[in-house]
Amino acid sequence: MTRKKLIAGNWKMNKSGTEAVELVSELVTQLGPQTEVDVLVCPPFTALETVSRKLEGTSLKLGAQTMHAERSGAYTGEISAPMLRDLYVTYVILGHSERRALFGETDEVVNGKVLAALKNELRPILCVGETLEEREAGETLKVVQTQLEGGLAGVDAAQAASLTIAYEPVWAIGTGKVATAAQAQEVHAFIRELLGARFEPSLARKIRILYGGSMKPDNAPELLAQKDIDGGLIGGASLEARSFLELVNAAA
Ligand code: G3P
Repeated sequence: MTRKKLIAGNWKMNKSGTEAVELVSELVTQLGPQTEVDVLVCPPFTALETVSRKLEGTSLKLGAQTMHAERSGAYTGEISAPMLRDLYVTYVILGHSERRALFGETDEVVNGKVLAALKNELRPILCVGETLEEREAGETLKVVQTQLEGGLAGVDAAQAASLTIAYEPVWAIGTGKVATAAQAQEVHAFIRELLGARFEPSLARKIRILYGGSMKPDNAPELLAQKDIDGGLIGGASLEARSFLELVNAAA
């Protein structure tokens, strides 16, 4: 089964509206109508609207970095799935380790968001991954399993095709320390096995599993060559057109 690779840029809390437009304009020009790899950008909320306009009629896809599980209401500072849909957002990153660690998102909270995203026809990118302490304690697979099963509670097989999973070892995020291809492949294969048990193996084979954590043009080819690594969720290297385009090329 060949899964189309997905290269996704998580810009985190970076780029003004003007800088965001500059970056996507360059991506659009350089990428042209290529369709070999799916390319996704996830700007901060403040740049979604301008970026969305810039992406109209192109093959690039637009994502958000988080959302609230409720549709509307007294949730100061929050953004809902229908609001994202309104801006032609199609993907949403959920359960990123920074949201878990810095904003107290539990598996239960993440699960509520996953269900709300699916209900609103947004494609969730569910992030899972262990800390260094957990890896050293030999708990990597247990942690990943708990986050995956917790995040996917109540998701049915009909919705499974809309899912993307991102394995992001916390110790590799923004640190320059990348998981070896073998370490990443081991966890990706495990995630696919869990998805097979949770849904069915034929569905699990269709779900993309991205690697995230210091993915750069020099380490990407080996990671992307692994059987169960279907693309990357890129932080730092997605902030400049040149490195991001190199990653897209590495996936092609
Ligand atoms: O979501 C992407 C991510 O956390 C990886 O960040 O900067 O290590 O590529 P970075």
